[in-house]
Amino acid sequence: MDYVHKPVLLAETIAWLRCIPGGIYIDCTLGGGGHAAAILERIKPGGRLLGIDRDPAALEAARRRLAPYGAMVSFIQGNFRDLAHLIAPLGVQEVDGILFDLGVSSPQLERAERGFSYHQDGPLDMRMDPRQTITAAHLVNELPQEELARILWEYGEERWAARIAQFIVAARKRAKLKTTGELVAVIKQAVPAGARKEGPHPARRTFQALRIAVNEELDSLAPALETAVQLLKPGGRLCVISFHSLEDRIVKRTFHRLARGCTCPPEFPACVCGRQPLLEVLTRRPVIPTAEEVQENPRARSAKLRVAEKRAGVLKTEGGE
Ligand SMILES: C[S@@+](CC[C@H](N)C(=O)[O-])C[C@H]1O[C@@H](n2cnc3c(N)ncnc32)[C@H](O)[C@@H]1O
Repeated sequence: MDYVHKPVLLAETIAWLRCIPGGIYIDCTLGGGGHAAAILERIKPGGRLLGIDRDPAALEAARRRLAPYGAMVSFIQGNFRDLAHLIAPLGVQEVDGILFDLGVSSPQLERAERGFSYHQDGPLDMRMDPRQTITAAHLVNELPQEELARILWEYGEERWAARIAQFIVAARKRAKLKTTGELVAVIKQAVPAGARKEGPHPARRTFQALRIAVNEELDSLAPALETAVQLLKPGGRLCVISFHSLEDRIVKRTFHRLARGCTCPPEFPACVCGRQPLLEVLTRRPVIPTAEEVQENPRARSAKLRVAEKRAGVLKTEGGE
């Protein structure tokens, strides 16, 4: 089956990343290789791209698509949370630019058997990395009701979280929930008819929340961004595309923290922590897609690109300090 994923904010991302021929770049979310192909076009001859994805199906698709670039590309399966560890065997000490295009790809969402979609019936899976043991079925059938409600509230911002969790627990007492279709049916029973008539699909927020929990998406992000900053050369750029407010908040706060440097309380008369600003934030407001892009690719509608540059004169330090 073809792996078709239309890269979001492509022209904008490539311009902000400021790719230079012969440069070294990391794509931490390789997917189908759409952004990667555009980067490779701009860094040849002599450039190098390290492409990471935790989904072997995505890596396989990227391998096929990027085959013409030969040894310019290294393919790495893993979680970007382990960025430093993943690239260590390649002997790369520092790079010119790093991209994170967060979330899931269209093929992940559209293939029923991956269990990400509330539009198609499939197993309750939602793992980006099939080597992982925890699936959505595990969370839905095993978690205590309060924990389930917390996940739906915190990761889905679902106002009916408590009711949906209550209905899930009642349903699983009769029989374990095995498919996305069964879960959607329970959610539709839980969300009052009036609320179901307006807004997006009633299962959208629950599915987002379970996906984030299964893949521990939010926990990985801030540590990965800090490691990425450590790996950048002075003047190197970090581009992050996020797709919902929870991710965007983490990106914004991490950028600002690293741009501020000093973490002393405001009441201190002088700095005692000695932390130096590592970054300059280049996008005061996030870059968002044009109306034309959203019309052509509805998946782009919630995308936000934030960009920061590693400050010159910042010494490389250990442990994200
Ligand atoms: C939006 S897609 C990227 C699409 C890509 N930019 C393109 O143009 O084809 C996000 C990809 O990131 C991967 N991903 C998400 N979280 C990850 C993580 N923590 N570590 C590694 N890969 C991750 C997903 O498996 C998915 O393939």
